[in-house]
Amino acid sequence: METITFPSILTALPGPRSAAIIETDRGYISPSYTRDFPMVVESGNGMLITDVDGNVFLDFCCGIAVCSTGHCHPEVVQAVRSQAGKLMHMSGTDFYYRVQTDLAKKLTEITPGNFPKKVFFTNSGTEAVEAAMKLARYHTGRTRFIAYYGAFHGRTMGAVSLTGSKVVQKKGFGPFVPGVTHIPYPDPYHSDSPDLSQECLNFMEKNVFEKTVSPDEVAAIFIEPIQGEGGYIVPPGDYLDGVQKLARKHGILLVADEIQSGMGRTGKMFASEHFDLEPDIICLAKGIASGMPLGAIVARSEVMNWPYGSHASTFGGNPVACAAALKTIGLLENSLVENAARMGEYLQWQLKKLQEKYSFIGDVRGKGLMVGMEIVKDKSSREKDPELRNRIVEKAFYKGLIILGCGANTVRFAPALIVEKEHIDSCLEILDEVCLGLGG
Ligand SMILES: Cc1ncc(COP(=O)(O)O)c(C=O)c1O
Repeated sequence: METITFPSILTALPGPRSAAIIETDRGYISPSYTRDFPMVVESGNGMLITDVDGNVFLDFCCGIAVCSTGHCHPEVVQAVRSQAGKLMHMSGTDFYYRVQTDLAKKLTEITPGNFPKKVFFTNSGTEAVEAAMKLARYHTGRTRFIAYYGAFHGRTMGAVSLTGSKVVQKKGFGPFVPGVTHIPYPDPYHSDSPDLSQECLNFMEKNVFEKTVSPDEVAAIFIEPIQGEGGYIVPPGDYLDGVQKLARKHGILLVADEIQSGMGRTGKMFASEHFDLEPDIICLAKGIASGMPLGAIVARSEVMNWPYGSHASTFGGNPVACAAALKTIGLLENSLVENAARMGEYLQWQLKKLQEKYSFIGDVRGKGLMVGMEIVKDKSSREKDPELRNRIVEKAFYKGLIILGCGANTVRFAPALIVEKEHIDSCLEILDEVCLGLGG
């Protein structure tokens, strides 16, 4: 599929064509967009992207954890072409078409929990979260939600009310959907607690449910089984089980936001499976269709009891996106989830070697290909160093490696699930050079 394996930077960055487009772009595009790199992408192929000046980059973020099968996987491209030639739109909430039905059935089969489920399709992650909020309120007749500090659930009005990631995402946009209480997400690296899970569960029970929010008014707890934008934080093994038990005890729905952690990224089809979670509603998007815009919620059938006409979407479940998703899931099941598990272990192993070498790499963690590397002032204080993290990400870019930050001070690695050892070796070689250049 690929002819070149390693990045190849031929011009100063940005090159002249990129610079011209960026200049024009500034005149027309919303200033709210967060473009970290002066790179104008012309094409993508597997793990590589090429800019308009012919520079080739090694992509370890794959469109922010979206291009799960790599850029333009030939089988996905073929599925898209074939579907686009047959039917591009019909509005799946008003008419039937086969690919949408097939995909819904498939999603109910691959999501955790051996019980009947139903699917609602959207175009994006935030819309999936929006749908989950509405469904949770409708089903329970309750109004309140529990969400987490550090969580990112999207930017539409409901989802941003749950989001607790960065104040810039909220400032000036309130008032938000009322009834959201944020609680701490367990962060093992920054805790010295002998029982972090219990401490965080106590917070929910004792501080929230006994002091400020009656649990019988809570419709749902929204949780990312591995926190994404918040810093690729893996909670302690027993925490999620504790949350699930608390939710069940109080008749609260458990909503797993697997928009970033799902679709094989963590080495299992869903991150929930690492923790034996069986969410009542699961939110999906990002990697589901290899880059075609698609989101979904998959809920227990008895939970998805909203009536005819109560919620719908013109574009949600678009046939071309559904065809891409079916092909994507086939590829994931065939070998890519397993590859994510294997290559994720290799990536973490290599990053841990780097951690031993450099004083500012405080922590390496993750599951499968959802891997975070936390940058600190020194390992004993664990004080976060956002500025150094930003320099690492920036310097890697100038050497042809695309990595992104998440949380205050974490570098995230979210390559396509097709990643191979040679890509990881190349990534690590560049990172090592970058770290060496920064001292440490
Ligand atoms: C966990 C999680 N939920 C929701 C979203 C929002 O998805 P979208 O940008 O497709 O609206 C994101 C996006 O980064 C996410 O990571």
